[in-house]
Amino acid sequence: MLNTKVSTQDSLKIFNNILFLSLLMVGSHAHAETADDFFNRPQIKYAQPQNLLGWIDSRKQISLNGEWNYIVDPLKNGLPGESFFSDFASNKKPQSAFELIEYDFANAPKIRVPGDWNSQYENLFFYQGGLWYHKEFEHELTNNERTHLYIEGSNFATKVFLNGKPIGEFLAGYTAFDFDISEAVKEGLNTLIVFVDAALDKNTVPTYKTDWWLYGGIIGDVSIVSLPEAFVRNAKVQLNKLNANLIDVYIEGNINLANQAVVVKVPELGIDRQFQFNEFGLMSAQIPFTGNYWDLDNPKLYEVIIETKFESIKDQIGFRTIEIVDNEIMLNKKPIIFKGISSHAEPIAEKGIAFSSNHFNKILAEVSELGGNFLRAAHYPYSRHLAKEADRLGILLWEEIPVYWNINWNNEQTYAIANQQLTRMVSRDWNRASVVVWSVGNETPYSENRMKFLSRLIDETRELDNSRLLSAALLGGSAQDFQNLIVAIAALGMQSDIPTPREKIILEQVLNNFETSTNDQPRLIINLDDPIGHKLDIVALNEYFGWYYSVFLAPQMNISERTFRLLMLELLPEIKLQNSFNKPIHLSEFGAGAKYGFTGEGIWSEKYQAMVYTAQIEMIKNNQGTVKGYSPWILKDFRSMMRPLSGIQDFYNRKGLMDEGGNKKDAYYILQSFYYSKEQT
Ligand code: GCU
Repeated sequence: MLNTKVSTQDSLKIFNNILFLSLLMVGSHAHAETADDFFNRPQIKYAQPQNLLGWIDSRKQISLNGEWNYIVDPLKNGLPGESFFSDFASNKKPQSAFELIEYDFANAPKIRVPGDWNSQYENLFFYQGGLWYHKEFEHELTNNERTHLYIEGSNFATKVFLNGKPIGEFLAGYTAFDFDISEAVKEGLNTLIVFVDAALDKNTVPTYKTDWWLYGGIIGDVSIVSLPEAFVRNAKVQLNKLNANLIDVYIEGNINLANQAVVVKVPELGIDRQFQFNEFGLMSAQIPFTGNYWDLDNPKLYEVIIETKFESIKDQIGFRTIEIVDNEIMLNKKPIIFKGISSHAEPIAEKGIAFSSNHFNKILAEVSELGGNFLRAAHYPYSRHLAKEADRLGILLWEEIPVYWNINWNNEQTYAIANQQLTRMVSRDWNRASVVVWSVGNETPYSENRMKFLSRLIDETRELDNSRLLSAALLGGSAQDFQNLIVAIAALGMQSDIPTPREKIILEQVLNNFETSTNDQPRLIINLDDPIGHKLDIVALNEYFGWYYSVFLAPQMNISERTFRLLMLELLPEIKLQNSFNKPIHLSEFGAGAKYGFTGEGIWSEKYQAMVYTAQIEMIKNNQGTVKGYSPWILKDFRSMMRPLSGIQDFYNRKGLMDEGGNKKDAYYILQSFYYSKEQT
């Protein structure tokens, strides 16, 4: 008699193995694979995208923008090899009522592409995990053509599957990428499945902690692009840095264009020149420029055509120079002040992330209405439509990668993400006349590793494009600066009736401690000396005099925050800004929070925010020798998971000059009248 006493544990093991064997026998040659083998299957090696496919708007393509299906997958359980019944990429359909498949894209809910998922469904508002997208499309195979999938942006890690085959993965958010899908695409109906994981950590770029909403999803256009076997991948066409009567042309073809002829045309300028690719499919050449410069009052764009015997692509390009001469920012050899404002990629009076021409058109129209000529597109690359609209409207842009606060400077994968974002941002927008500044980061604290990391990015940028200004928004406020600030506040306080008698005693002690007499004229000199300044063209400073510093300095001085704030507003106009590099200073951020419609005296009132702007503008007027640009923080209240203060913030950062609905606060009009005034060079 067989010993039928089999423990539960053993019987489960036997069941599992039988299950495995049956699963593995189906549809493939029967070979025994244990449970362990299944869970330890070799990871799929996903292909990485090649260099950016540029000039996308002139390519033969079918848009996949519109309604897709989606399935939320916080456990990433649908990934190949993760589960028996949920290999989402294969998009299996049950052939009978007895087949167990635990997903069904065809009947899954709909989601709009492009667009973040957070603003499309209440239950996805805070969601930062994995989510599957599904789209079917018809395709006609054409001889001698390659088929590519182009995605303008996807946050933050993306895996692409077509007709059940893994196509590739891309780990850099906010930037465009494409895959050659020729081997997987078929005649007729195709099934595209994309897994997007919005999770971030301390090794990603940005990290998991940011003061903006980390919108997840396919946030940019998607299209199926048809290319000849021999195609131009990208091209840079811009005025020569040293000779504004010459256009530098650089064209990157794929290897099939090796030694082929290529024609560059600018019909309006009578240019029609033939050149030849080298053995690698690359070419660079110069052609004379006799046209009108792109300028703010006349943003002239020329149609530039690149033609081979296989294709013809075109772009609308403006030609201008931007440089620093004797501490002045020069646009087309004339001094210019960046009269700007900062933004996030959020549409005015709409929810979610901005992605369309219409979204960016409205943001840029607000810059013009403000009397500005400059937009700091913080803190990450926006869709290509921003710079295309800015080219058309004649507004200058600062573009930036999300190397934000303290990232993992020692991690090669971290650098690889930042480098991908930078090279794709630069090689997508290097033909955009409106883009005048590339920024490699925001408020990154000094360290040796940070210096190495940023220096590599800066060198890489200049390698790709030496024609634009390089910057980074720096943290001001060394320990010495804050000590000087405390002394200046104390000296001012002694001459003011704002402090209470108790506080006056304290302020006098502060002055005695620093051996400063009470009748010294309070002046505060802030000297920017962050060593990265040596490698930048513009030294940019984020400063929050009138907003943040009182929070930790008032307690240190044992005076009230009210006293500190009011003294700060009196001191602000007297601040002197300098830098150790004799370079122009751009105030990349300053501002204060206010809830639209909030009256009263204290912070969060529109009145207080307006007082900060008034004082900041006075300070700018007193520093016109060194401050050559400003982009106050920020055009519009924006979503942030760091800003929960109910009744005031409600997960909005309230430093906007207008609220999320586009309602303008008092401070808006303060800045607008400054920008329209003639009180600046
Ligand atoms: C920082 C940072 C912004 C942030 C802002 C603020 O300087 O650059 O991303 O939103 O200050 O605190 O509001």
